[in-house]
Amino acid sequence: MNKHASDLKPEKIVGGVATDQRHESAHKHVSGTAVYIDDIPEPAGTLHGCLGLSTVAHGRIRAMDLSAVRAAPGVVAVLTAADVPGENDISPTGRHDEPILTDELVQFFGQPVFCVIAETRDQARRATLKAEMTYEELSFTVDIGALDPLNDKLVTPPLTLKRGEAGEAIRQSPHRIKGRMRVGGQDHFYLEGHIAMAIPGEDGDVAVHSSTQHPSEVQHMVSHALGVPSHAVTVEVRRMGGGFGGKETQSNLFAALAAIAARKLGRAVKIRPDRDDDMKATGKRHDFLISYEAGFDDDGAVQGVDFTFAARCGYSSDLSGPVTDRALFHCDNTYFWPAVRAQSAPLYTNTVSNTAFRGFGGPQGMVGAERVIEEVAFALGKDPLEIRKRNFYSTTTRNVTPYHQTVEDNIIERLVSELEADAEYWRRRRTIQAFNANSRVVKRGLALTPVKFGISFTATHYNQAGALVHVYTDGSVHLNHGGTEMGQGLYLKVAQVVAEEFQIDLSNVKVTATSTGKVPNTSATAASSGSDLNGMAAQNAAQQIKARLVDFAAEKFSVPADQVVFLPNRVRVGNQEFTFADFVRQAYMARVQLSAAGFYKTPKIHWDRDKGQGRPFYYFAYGAACSEVSIDTLTGEYVVERVDVLHDAGRSLNRAIDLGQIEGGFVQGMGWLTTEELWWDERGRLRTHAPSTYKIPLASDRPKIFNVKLAEWPENAEPSIHRSKAVGEPPFPLAISVLHALSDAVASVADHRIFPDLDAPATPERVLMAVERLKRKAKSLA
Ligand code: MTE
Ligand code: MOS
Repeated sequence: MNKHASDLKPEKIVGGVATDQRHESAHKHVSGTAVYIDDIPEPAGTLHGCLGLSTVAHGRIRAMDLSAVRAAPGVVAVLTAADVPGENDISPTGRHDEPILTDELVQFFGQPVFCVIAETRDQARRATLKAEMTYEELSFTVDIGALDPLNDKLVTPPLTLKRGEAGEAIRQSPHRIKGRMRVGGQDHFYLEGHIAMAIPGEDGDVAVHSSTQHPSEVQHMVSHALGVPSHAVTVEVRRMGGGFGGKETQSNLFAALAAIAARKLGRAVKIRPDRDDDMKATGKRHDFLISYEAGFDDDGAVQGVDFTFAARCGYSSDLSGPVTDRALFHCDNTYFWPAVRAQSAPLYTNTVSNTAFRGFGGPQGMVGAERVIEEVAFALGKDPLEIRKRNFYSTTTRNVTPYHQTVEDNIIERLVSELEADAEYWRRRRTIQAFNANSRVVKRGLALTPVKFGISFTATHYNQAGALVHVYTDGSVHLNHGGTEMGQGLYLKVAQVVAEEFQIDLSNVKVTATSTGKVPNTSATAASSGSDLNGMAAQNAAQQIKARLVDFAAEKFSVPADQVVFLPNRVRVGNQEFTFADFVRQAYMARVQLSAAGFYKTPKIHWDRDKGQGRPFYYFAYGAACSEVSIDTLTGEYVVERVDVLHDAGRSLNRAIDLGQIEGGFVQGMGWLTTEELWWDERGRLRTHAPSTYKIPLASDRPKIFNVKLAEWPENAEPSIHRSKAVGEPPFPLAISVLHALSDAVASVADHRIFPDLDAPATPERVLMAVERLKRKAKSLA
């Protein structure tokens, strides 16, 4: 088996880092063989749950007659708040404001009040409809437009960021603007909806399969709800069919109910809500009302800005604190505000409690920044791209953010100038002007917008991760880490890191389902930090094992440690070579431990929320997009004609995956800013709770020309995992370019003299109204 080094041809491992492997489950996703929770064979006697939702937006439950529900065919139990053996609360931040099932006070239309457990899912759903509820209705608020951000009820303490004297700077500026903009919320519309299956064990233990981005939190919530220690609860998730932030906290409800029922009834219980119930009963992206005031000079250089970010949070805090904080953290986007004040208003409303959604408030903050830039450009009659460039952070001065972190890794100027050239911005600007001059009904618009996205959880303690690596005696490797797979390719990236470390083919590394029993006390897979954190933890575990292997070989073969070298699928020791498997077997025979737990915590970061100062972000990811649209000025309908994207993923771990993240993020962002509209009626009912009324982008809405490129040159200035950068969320706000291109097309109906004042989502209806408004104003000016 041993071969001399010179016998071997140099080779490369298949699937280390910086190789463009397909997603490890891609073939299973498209052939229907990937196992999601609803595909796991059910234990004998599995029962099924269905939520009973409130039918008022705000009220007190005066009577709840569930006798017909209990008598319905197949019903085994009906759970109410009284059936929660432990704490009836799943608030993720410990504010104790989110009951699993509410007992008396209903705070939004669609709030879970009871849960029917029946032999079949169909029986549970039919029985649920038989409840007789009597409410004393109370007055309610759904829309934040009617609220005062300074005086009305908040769900969590607000934040203010401040640098310099914004008010003074605005007053002393030669020009000023002041305005208000709405930016809508968004349903996650993961293809796999929420689901949990709980299986009771001995001694009151329970195992929960949960479609969650945060298995450790589900574990804690289930243990509190049951009143048992965390060690009695094991949560496992192999994959989600999409999470997008919607499964960061919202999975708690389903897992807790399934576990309570399983414990009570001694049978496995599965809860998979209908899509309508999922959309009504789980939180979404926060919509915002952004008020802004800015002062600027003749060149469009902003001197001072003042923002208020009011958000519809719903009835409880959930993650509204950190989400609205992150909006403020991105109210600068790529721009240096010499004097700035930004405050958040996380407002209480009688709607479902809003939650994380890709970008986590950051995109809403950037929409505010870009809005200011756009309005400054209109005020001066200049091209918005010129104003953008005028206000970019520089690399030497003008580089301190509103939260007092210095931007040390700024690459926005180079990125934007490359995209500007690639996309032929100025040539197309002239072509579009000529086109619009000759086209009466169809008008075109163009916009190029940048992105700077801060990477790290702003809750510093979340920036840690663990991993578990076992090397078996045949040389194959079992890898487990705290991150969850939701389609983003995290399992693959972390496996690539381990394959690279041992220099073995990717097929020898298996990532196993995330489990709280294998890696404990994990953070949510969120804030785009999955590969940064878990990649580092897995690398650390692999390096521990490697160090033991090196010590073993150096001693056994009497060579210095630097003569033990890991080559592709082989190990060279002095002048001998072994296959990796053979080498590992020898180590096992010598009783070397071939398993290790790895750990990582992000260095350098700190954040003092009371002072509004610190270094909350380890680094920034950058990107830019140039979008061209055409609108029909008689109907408001539009087409995204062409999009060019240049994005920074540092030294990409996997370009195929990263390009997929950029394309998917962009299109999802486009949906948010264009066609996806949440609508509540006068009774506070969410009426857009199915694909029939809520329009996500279709394949046919994809930009007709879609050029997506990774910038080849950047590498992370910080020693992140192989100098890569997080890529899950940063591309999402690139879609702001579509909103601005639509605004540009609208503006053309009045020769760009009138600011279109376009809110998001810019549905065809809103585009049409903006066109009509501009035509009217233009006429009255003429
Ligand atoms: N990509 C897919 N396919 N599905 C998802 O649910 N979630 C996004 C992003 N990309 C998501 C996705 C969100 S909100 C985040 S925070 C990151 O992936 C999380 O994974 P990461 O940290 O591994 O990038
Ligand atoms: Mo992503 S919103 O951080 O789950």
